[in-house]
Amino acid sequence: MVHVRPSLIELQSYVPGHKAPGAVVLASNECPFGLLPGVAARLGELTGGLSRYPDMGARRLLDALAARHGVSPDRIAVGAGSSEVCGQLLHTVAGPGGEVVFGWRSFEAYPILTTVAGGAVVQVPLRGHVQDLEAMAAAVTGRTRLVFVCNPNNPTSTSVGESALRAFVDRVPEHVLVVVDEAYHEYADPAAVPDALALFGDRPNVVVLRTFSKAYALAGLRVGYCVGAPGIIAQVRKTQTPFSVSGLAQEAAVAALQEHEEVARRVALTVGERDRVTHDLRALGYDPPPSQANFVWLPLGRDSAAFAGHCLGNGVIVRAFPGEGVRVTIGLPEENTAFLALAATWSTRL
Ligand SMILES: Cc1ncc(COP(=O)(O)O)c(C=O)c1O
Repeated sequence: MVHVRPSLIELQSYVPGHKAPGAVVLASNECPFGLLPGVAARLGELTGGLSRYPDMGARRLLDALAARHGVSPDRIAVGAGSSEVCGQLLHTVAGPGGEVVFGWRSFEAYPILTTVAGGAVVQVPLRGHVQDLEAMAAAVTGRTRLVFVCNPNNPTSTSVGESALRAFVDRVPEHVLVVVDEAYHEYADPAAVPDALALFGDRPNVVVLRTFSKAYALAGLRVGYCVGAPGIIAQVRKTQTPFSVSGLAQEAAVAALQEHEEVARRVALTVGERDRVTHDLRALGYDPPPSQANFVWLPLGRDSAAFAGHCLGNGVIVRAFPGEGVRVTIGLPEENTAFLALAATWSTRL
């Protein structure tokens, strides 16, 4: 028998959101509006180059991101989605036995990627659906290598504010890498949710993670990146699977960055719909926490799986975390209305 690492045998695989032909899919926090027009046009021009390897240094993308964020390109590392970049960060600092702290529940990939990297998972319970930064800081030990702060948090949609985040980063020792995962940054109210890049751009132990999968509508092409100090970024780049970001993905991301007006228009639509869905759910007797993302969280506890089954049986796919809650992505207005109708028929059981 081939020797397999025991920690992998026990590890639960990542569970992707379901897809089904003809169903309304509100299970993966995707953008419902399809490709940005400029991205679709650029992709059509590019297929001729696919027999060659892409630019491993992603130079055009790094330059475009550097210009967007007002930093030098040596502060940015890219990967095949921010999931790959999470893994790269863990491989860079965690290693065997290194402790990795994060709130729980949070992004499902954190424990999986930590275990794959050989690190030890340290989960700190949320408080009222929000990451408890004080408890997370208290969980940091001499063995801690990395802390994830998911802001806004997936799947609970809540955020931590500037003063709490500042106090947290001040408290974490400098040898520990703080990764602020801002996958849903574009959907958050800037008055309530800090931009960690602006706050901590000069800190050598803070890295900010962003993705093209959500507001930029590129989940299928897999591009994410992190921004941090050049010293750590140089090491993170070494951990990337060679050529993991395809040429199509790189060029699509460059084109997407040029469409900030269309991105802002779509984000505003989604935020308006999110607020409508939240309001209507509350009127029906549900208790979603205030969302800063493109999804809402229904803390339905032991009814979660049954609620998701009720939706699925009526053609709407939502994401259940059995025993905890249900995450519902904000879709097109008519999709959200279809979901609300199902929430209304279920609400008699609340
Ligand atoms: C908090 C968070 N981080 C990172 C990701 C990874 O996204 P991607 O790998 O598509 O960039 C997700 C995806 O759902 C997420 O919710």
